[in-house]
Amino acid sequence: MTRIKDALDAVAAAVIAQKDYLCGLDAKTGDGDHGLNMARGFQAVCEEVDNMPDTTRPGPVLELIGRTLIANVGGAAGPLYGTGFLKAAQACDEDTRLNITSFEKLLGAAIEGIKARGRSDKGDKTMLDTLIPIYNCFLPENAEGKNLFDVLEEASHAAKAGVDYTKTIPARKGRAQLVGERSIGYEDPGAVSSMIMYRALYTFLKK
Ligand SMILES: Nc1ncnc2c1ncn2[C@@H]1O[C@H](COP(=O)(O)OP(=O)(O)OP(=O)(O)O)[C@@H](O)[C@H]1O
Ligand SMILES: [Mg+2]
Repeated sequence: MTRIKDALDAVAAAVIAQKDYLCGLDAKTGDGDHGLNMARGFQAVCEEVDNMPDTTRPGPVLELIGRTLIANVGGAAGPLYGTGFLKAAQACDEDTRLNITSFEKLLGAAIEGIKARGRSDKGDKTMLDTLIPIYNCFLPENAEGKNLFDVLEEASHAAKAGVDYTKTIPARKGRAQLVGERSIGYEDPGAVSSMIMYRALYTFLKK
């Protein structure tokens, strides 16, 4: 067991525990499968990473997470999250350690990957409406003079604010765009799954 593996297990457990909740959200504006997709993906991820001989470095673990999500999850979110993890893996090097700078670099790379693959951006009512506000907390102009745990906590609030924002806007990407204006009033399921993953990581790191 490594700390990276333990962190992954904590994130996977949170996603799997919220399977029905995420499906319920997706049923309001989409096809009701987001929780199933995410739970299936993270179940597969845990099995794959369990078989890794060395989980001490973040790069190879993030890469396997990305490849496994792309291979095992149908629908939009699996390949999009998978691309994010692959891009974060590519942003790692031998010296990557958990700190504000590396968080900014890895999450920034993940977001750029998701934007490119999804042809989406902030305000489209997607996972990006949670991920970008989290990322902004780690930018030098916002994080200067703060310690990692203060920034992690701020980002946890920013994630919730991002989810709340998705309630106020119509969906412009994915299946939910079919219901368009009628998606106003509902949270985006991908924005919620991003918050669940981030908060599980934050809770793990705080311990
Ligand atoms: N182009 C996109 N860019 C970023 N995120 C997206 C995009 N399309 C969908 N999503 C995210 O994926 C979530 C839906 O994932 P789900 O697992 O339900 O796949 P799906 O049913 O194939 O989705 P959909 O048909 O809505 O694209 C949405 O809530 C949204 O956050
Ligand atoms: Mg769906």
